[in-house]
Parts: sequence; C-alpha cells; structure tokens
Amino acid sequence: MKERIYLDNSATTRMDEIVLDAMLPYFRENFGNASSVHIFGQEARTCVEASRRSVAELIGADTREIVFTSGGTESDNAALWGVFRSGYRSGNHIVTTKIEHPAVLATCKSMESAGAEVTYVSVDASGRVDPGAIEAAIRETTLLISVMHANNETGVIQPIEEISGIARRRKILLHTDAVQSVGKIPTNVRELGVDLLSMSGHKIHGPKGVGVLYIGKGTKLTPFMTGGSHERKRRAGTENVPAIAGLGAAARLAWERLQEMQTRVGALRDRLENQILTRIPGTRVNGRPPRLPHITNVSFEGVDGEGAVIALDLQGVAISTGSACSSGALDPSHVLTAMGLRPEVVQGSLRFSLCYHNTDDEIDRAFKILESVVQRLRRLSRKNYA
Ligand SMILES: Cc1ncc(COP(=O)(O)O)c(C=O)c1O
Repeated sequence: MKERIYLDNSATTRMDEIVLDAMLPYFRENFGNASSVHIFGQEARTCVEASRRSVAELIGADTREIVFTSGGTESDNAALWGVFRSGYRSGNHIVTTKIEHPAVLATCKSMESAGAEVTYVSVDASGRVDPGAIEAAIRETTLLISVMHANNETGVIQPIEEISGIARRRKILLHTDAVQSVGKIPTNVRELGVDLLSMSGHKIHGPKGVGVLYIGKGTKLTPFMTGGSHERKRRAGTENVPAIAGLGAAARLAWERLQEMQTRVGALRDRLENQILTRIPGTRVNGRPPRLPHITNVSFEGVDGEGAVIALDLQGVAISTGSACSSGALDPSHVLTAMGLRPEVVQGSLRFSLCYHNTDDEIDRAFKILESVVQRLRRLSRKNYA
C-alpha cells in the first residue's frame, strides 16, 4: 500500500517535528518546576512565559490574559463553570447553540443539574446561527453567551463579532470555543470582542493535553481547578512545561503559516470538493461560506458514512463522519441534524479535514480511492446514481 493519507485534522493533527524538538529539553535536562526558585525552576519559567507570549500574539491578547489548561475541554469547562459560579451578576441563564462541541453541550447539561437554565439556539440550513436568535434568547437573568467561532464538523464560521455587539450592549459575558479556528483563520480576541476564548494544542500540530483559556482583562471568573496559586491563581496545578513549550512552538508555526492555510490549504480543500461534486453524482456540501479553509463536509446519497470510513481506512485514507467524539457512537450528528438534514442524509455524510502538510498528490489519490469506495458501496446497496 502507498503511504497513508491523513485527512482527519479536525480530530487531531500530527505533531510537528519543530514542536517535538522544542519539547524534548523540558522532559530531559530542563525538568524543573516553573514555580521553583532555583535555576531549574527559572529555566522552566522562562519557557512557560515565552510560550505565553507566542500564544498571546497568535490571538491578539495580552500575556496576562492567557491561562494554560489541559486542553480545549478544560478551557470550555473552566469558562462556563467559572462564569456561572462567579456571581458577577445575579442570574442563572446561559445562551448557547445546538451545534457546540460536547465540551460545551455536556457542560451545559451538568450545569442544568446544578441549577442553571440554558437556551440552545438552533442554526439555519447553512449551519450558521442568527445573531437575532441569540438576542431573542436573552433574559434578565442571562449571565453568559457561549457560541463557537467555527464548527468542527462543517467548518462554518459563526458571526461572533455581531454577537459580541449584542453581548456588550446587554452587559453579558461572551465565550467562544475557537479550538477549530485558531491557526486556520485570523482569530483575534479584540476583533472578535470576546471575554473568554478556548483553544487547544493538538489541533495546531502541537501536543495533546494542553490548551489555553483566554480570560479578558477584568473578567470575573471563579477558578475551575483549585489548589496552588499557579497561573495567577486562575488554574491550579504544576504547569505541564514540556507541553506548554510545544504549544508555544505550535503557536509560532501557526502564526507563520496563517496566510498559507487560507490560500494553499484552502485551494486544496476546494480541489477535493470540486472533484467530489463534479465527478461523483448524488453529492452535496453541508454548510455554506464563510467556512474554515481546511474542512469540507459532504453527503453521499445511498452511502453509509460509517461503512465508508472503514472502507477508506482499509485503503489508507483516514477521515471521519463527524466529530471524533461522536464517531463510533451511533447517534447521528447533532450538527447536521440542527441544520435540518434528513436522518438518511446525515447518515451518509463524511468530514474531510486537511492540514498544512497535505499535498496535491495526496488529495488526488484520496479522491480516486473515495470515488471507487462510493461506487462499491452504492453497488452493494443496489442503487444507481449515474
Ligand atoms: C470545537 C471543539 N471544542 C473543543 C474540543 C476539545 O478539545 P480537546 O481535545 O483539546 O479537549 C474539540 C476537539 O475536538 C473541538 O473540536
């Protein structure tokens, strides 16, 4: 078999060699605790602060607004629970959307058990939430609005700037889960106008198990993790220095590659999408622009998505049916369902997500394999789509 082709970068990315090189010294000789006073501690601290600067630059924040966490899931939890428990104003109501990642949706569910009231706003057929619908959901008791910057299944970018205008006017805090957008499109906290933003290392060729919660200056938040006074008392626990070193290196790479992600990688995605749409009948793209440059979600009539993922995997092409967390589970995609797709269309939908390292050759080879897999699965289901 020729080399495997990885088109599941929304699930996770391959760690860059440069990132690994940045991490290794902090496993070996520079193993100090960043809180220690001696030279070992100082080296670790220098590394943590350098990474903080790199992340701050990538998202347009001040270094004091960056808190390192164990990943996107923790950042989402810390943001939501942190606001809910902060008592910054009276109320218990949260506005979010039906298309959020489980890191937000499941957190909202457990907050409901703890007395929160949550409104889950839907999206239109294009996969976008209407800022008017967010505004209509606001109550006197609303504490927080949480809307993702871009969706992990469709890549559809949400109107955060407009929602920010509403949140500011109504004096409600705004959180965005930017795990998929950071490093793919300009994601600047000031331009977006958010108070809280979540990001994750492993979606940008960094290590797994490390992320960031941006906490805008003056935003009152009760810490999610309690213990020592790390991260200016906002996230207790000894800093994961090797992972933070890797995240810093990944942030620097993401910053350098941001333009190319949108041009070259965007063109690769379009090339794949155009080949699918023009050469495989019975296909449609789910989600309309503005979209992230590296994701496409396509429905194939008469094809079982899970079957296609397995058949492609056997031929060396890695993709998924939706978010990694829901792959393997039999529940149909909550994102595509919220967009109004019929269950059989949802069932036949596949997500292809590219990265900086993909090539034209890989895309063309992946397309040929996909074309033959779809033909075979359709033959098996005895349907004719010619
Ligand atoms: C939109 C979104 N939010 C949050 C997460 C969770 O991030 P992590 O894997 O770093 O916990 C993911 C991961 O798939 C994601 O796509």
